[in-house]
Amino acid sequence: MEATGIAHSQFKVAQIDDRLYGAFLEHLGRAIYTGIYEPDHPTADENGMRQDVIELVKELDVPVVRYPGGNFVSAYNWEDGIGPKENRPVRLDLAWHTSDSNEVGIHEFAEWCASTNTQMMLAVNLGSRGLDEARNFVEYVNHPGGSYWSDLRRANGREEPWNVRMWCLGNEMDGPWQIGHKDAVEYGKLAAETAKAMRAFDKNLELIVCGSSHSNMPTYPQWEATVLEHTYDVVDYISLHMYFGNPEGNAANYLALNHKLDDYIVAVQGVINFIKAKKRSKKDIYICFDEWNVWYHSREQDRKILEGQQGWPHAPALLEDIYNFEDVLQVGLILNTFIRRSDVVKIACIAQLVNVIAPIMTEKGGDAWRQTIYYPYYFASRFGRGTALQLTFECPTYDTENYKGVTFADVSAVHNEDDGTVTVFAINRHATETVDLAISLQGFDGLTVIDHQVMTHDDLRAVNVADNQKEVAPKAGTGAAVDGDTLTAALAPYSYQMIRLGR
Ligand code: AHR
Repeated sequence: MEATGIAHSQFKVAQIDDRLYGAFLEHLGRAIYTGIYEPDHPTADENGMRQDVIELVKELDVPVVRYPGGNFVSAYNWEDGIGPKENRPVRLDLAWHTSDSNEVGIHEFAEWCASTNTQMMLAVNLGSRGLDEARNFVEYVNHPGGSYWSDLRRANGREEPWNVRMWCLGNEMDGPWQIGHKDAVEYGKLAAETAKAMRAFDKNLELIVCGSSHSNMPTYPQWEATVLEHTYDVVDYISLHMYFGNPEGNAANYLALNHKLDDYIVAVQGVINFIKAKKRSKKDIYICFDEWNVWYHSREQDRKILEGQQGWPHAPALLEDIYNFEDVLQVGLILNTFIRRSDVVKIACIAQLVNVIAPIMTEKGGDAWRQTIYYPYYFASRFGRGTALQLTFECPTYDTENYKGVTFADVSAVHNEDDGTVTVFAINRHATETVDLAISLQGFDGLTVIDHQVMTHDDLRAVNVADNQKEVAPKAGTGAAVDGDTLTAALAPYSYQMIRLGR
């Protein structure tokens, strides 16, 4: 089967915001405790942070990490996580039916972000709390000194403010499961007033208001319209979430789900434009897709803990999806969708980063390793920076119950004008047929293939686990070439490919 396309240096979607490759860490399961933080671990640094995990996060070059939740944030007291550790209270976490020692709080997280070269994106609690705690938190984090909260931060050992720019106004406030759930009008008013107060402190903060938790929510997309009616003038981004799964074991359907993601983005872009027009506004709002990933493998196993049958354990193994090769393809497809929509999706966070539905897994006291999905995320984060190209693309298609015209091959391309490279990310969704890809490269001179990485496996269910950590891993590809001005590559059935072109 053949697929053809044209990439022209002047056909551009947008300059990709580096923060498209962000991630998320929540006080949930073993994300924090025995994930990033484990003072007794052989690799722990002076802050108790696992250096083996830090190294993997650095390898991913994660630009931003959202913290501390997630559902957790909606009953979280940020003040519990400051001051001497021995004085910090143990709290029951109502979102995940666990307990939290609060050994990790804003200071520890900030240190960890510095160690991993990433920026913080902080969420305020608009569930059980509100404007007052939010403004105090911002003052604690960002004010230099000479006020109650900033001086407390200094007394707690941090002289300089952290100057965090990105702030989430709550989490999934449309969800009835959320502690302090609100309807769209209640939330819109609270978010607007909180944003106003935060902007009164610093008008340059980047504020993110909650959109829908997913596009199956009964309130979607009216939720976005109502919330933006109240907040359009005082926020910068609207947050969306979406998780993907294949519980029926139907690969063709599963691998078409990025169409659902695409529909979601396009619809919310429409809502943003509608409210902008209605308000006669000149301002633009963008999408912050601050939770996305595959999440379904661990659902059954988690049920008992979440139903409270096991008390209030500290850092139990929750949401520990073990990803397979099929999920590599899915994560590649999701990332391609974000690249193609990078004119409207400016920030995105894989949810999450360590242990909890995560590309990095750890064993308490043991190893840290790369799950299968680590690799498509790694390639996109490393090489997907620059300008997203607007490709023309012709390829045979298939239909599913929900989506028509799903191309067997899915391709995105990014031009990095700084180093002159063009990187093509391609997924073949076909179970048995190779796709012969030919992309005409126009407006680029003298490109040749400088790197080609391929992920394939004869078993869609193959996984990377503690005692077999490299079962699914990229290998150097062969056969991709630039002939004249055309890139050709044979995309093997069910494969993920990253092809870099340079001089
Ligand atoms: O990432 C896991 C959970 O998924 C988050 O806590 C919540 O925001 C979402 O429902």
